[in-house]
Amino acid sequence: MYYPDELIEEVRIKNDIVDVISGYVKLQKKGASYFGLCPFHNEKSPSFSVSGSKQMYYCFGCGAGGNVFTFLMNYENYSFGEAIKTLAERAGVNLPEVERSEEMRKKENHRARLLEVNKEAAKYFYYQLRARQGEIGYRYLSGRKLTEETMKKFGLGFANKTSDDLTMYLKKKGYDGKLVQEAGLASFDERYGMHDKFWNRVMFPIQDINHRVIGFGGRVMGEGEPKYLNSPETPVFDKSRNLYGLNFARTARAGNIILCEGYMDVISLHQAGFTQAAASLGTAFTTGQASLLGRYTENVLLAYDSDGAGVNAALRAIAILREAGLSGKVINMHPYKDPDEFIKNLGTEAFQERIDNAENSFLFEIRILERDVDEKDPESKTRFHKEIAKKLCGFEIEVERENYLEAVADKYHIGFENLRKLVASYAARNGLTGQIRRPKSGVAKKNTSEENSKKVQRMLLTWITDYPAVYPKIAKYIAPSDFTEELYQKVAERLFADMETGNYNPAGIVSMFEDEEEQRQTAALFNTKVEALETKQEKERAFHDILYAVKKNSYEYYSEKLGSDMDALKQVIAGKKALEELSKTHISLD
Ligand code: CTP
Ligand code: MN
Repeated sequence: MYYPDELIEEVRIKNDIVDVISGYVKLQKKGASYFGLCPFHNEKSPSFSVSGSKQMYYCFGCGAGGNVFTFLMNYENYSFGEAIKTLAERAGVNLPEVERSEEMRKKENHRARLLEVNKEAAKYFYYQLRARQGEIGYRYLSGRKLTEETMKKFGLGFANKTSDDLTMYLKKKGYDGKLVQEAGLASFDERYGMHDKFWNRVMFPIQDINHRVIGFGGRVMGEGEPKYLNSPETPVFDKSRNLYGLNFARTARAGNIILCEGYMDVISLHQAGFTQAAASLGTAFTTGQASLLGRYTENVLLAYDSDGAGVNAALRAIAILREAGLSGKVINMHPYKDPDEFIKNLGTEAFQERIDNAENSFLFEIRILERDVDEKDPESKTRFHKEIAKKLCGFEIEVERENYLEAVADKYHIGFENLRKLVASYAARNGLTGQIRRPKSGVAKKNTSEENSKKVQRMLLTWITDYPAVYPKIAKYIAPSDFTEELYQKVAERLFADMETGNYNPAGIVSMFEDEEEQRQTAALFNTKVEALETKQEKERAFHDILYAVKKNSYEYYSEKLGSDMDALKQVIAGKKALEELSKTHISLD
């Protein structure tokens, strides 16, 4: 961060969050907070809250949250620096020209330089596409029915036939050869020396959600191998945590996001008006991408290729979406290979129809299983039915399981009672496995007790900021080290230190973090939903339970570390004593 903390705080304090957000979202006062329709996801009833006393916003629907800086960063796609500048201007605060130490500059600069060199390259490719030598690229893209407007929106470009013109250009602009290589734009070998990675290809700049160019995909024009060449992973290009087109899709507010396999699919869909389309980056869909999508929608529609590879990729994506708690549906592309070809042949309305008729992902999975069943072979049929029963056991909620059971029995002409018995017998042997909710996808299962312990920690921090008077009363029982999550601990350290001075502000704590994701998580810490409790007595009881649960979790955490951690013993002894005392102590919230 370039500006001194005090100045950042001054700018924040002079921009009341309710005022600022009111400029974007219609807010209504409800109790101590203001509520409105969340601008970060599509909803019909307001779950977006803005608190004047905390100077923070938080959406109970999608988990978006932060302080006034975070809001602008998210809403306007601003960087932290841009958000500060805008708000400083709004409040009439003068920002000094910042001086940074050599060392600081180096560190901050590396990522910034990588982004800069990518942007410069994108501009260069863009220019080439419109120059004489790029005509062949322009013709190729027009041949694929892309309009000038579309090419512009996606910043499409062209890498020349010459093998080192980009590198030369970037060097002339003052970028170090090593940096150009590190950005994945050039390689070095003994025979040819430095040469461009991309040549004679149409170029697709890949942008992060804030519209910054982080890498490229380049396509050969016509046949040739490899068809697509992509930038390697770099410090700014993490393929598992970005999606092509999401910078636009996230504000489309269509109520869903369409996930495709290819860059061209995304572009065609946007051109046809489906601006909610995004795609993974030449690699399989990942859990990181699923949780990114989860920030903007609950409904993901898969528009994968209709061939065998596409179906397999869809099956894997469904499992990952399910694990992330998102609902997946599958768009039928038949008889075309992919969305691009579909749109070109059948047009927008036909595709909208396919969206409306997208298939439930569970029924899709069963349909795919069924393709290998030999109707005439009893053994094959039995195996199919057993497989269905096993999958049905994944639905832990009875009504849901029954509904699916009925749908499947009906569709595949299986006796309802027979199938139900099969499910019961499978469940008796293996339990309701939860396999549907949490299939294996190479990622560690979220342990529910771990989730619980995190939740009580968040709740405690929310309570303490809601009822600051309680802090001095609990200070002797609870310390930052009782928060076993690293981020929570950092926040608690700062919050408790502030509370000692009597001058605490959660919104200021959010600015401790530059990373948007950390800001969001920090905001969540202060806005965890606590069940609506009416009486003071109920509240005090709930608070006591939460405090006790956090302390107990910490006690267990350090007990496990006995023997390997010198401090653990001290923590455990103190923890035990605190728990005993706490169980006998009443803490009033006043
Ligand atoms: N891909 C890749 N490398 C390849 C082939 C494909 O990275 N050699 C990635 C690209 O991100 C591409 C996606 O996989 O967009 C889908 O590939 P494919 O279905 O083969 O291409 P299309 O999207 O149909 O591309 P086009 O229409 O240009 O042929
Ligand atoms: Mn295609």
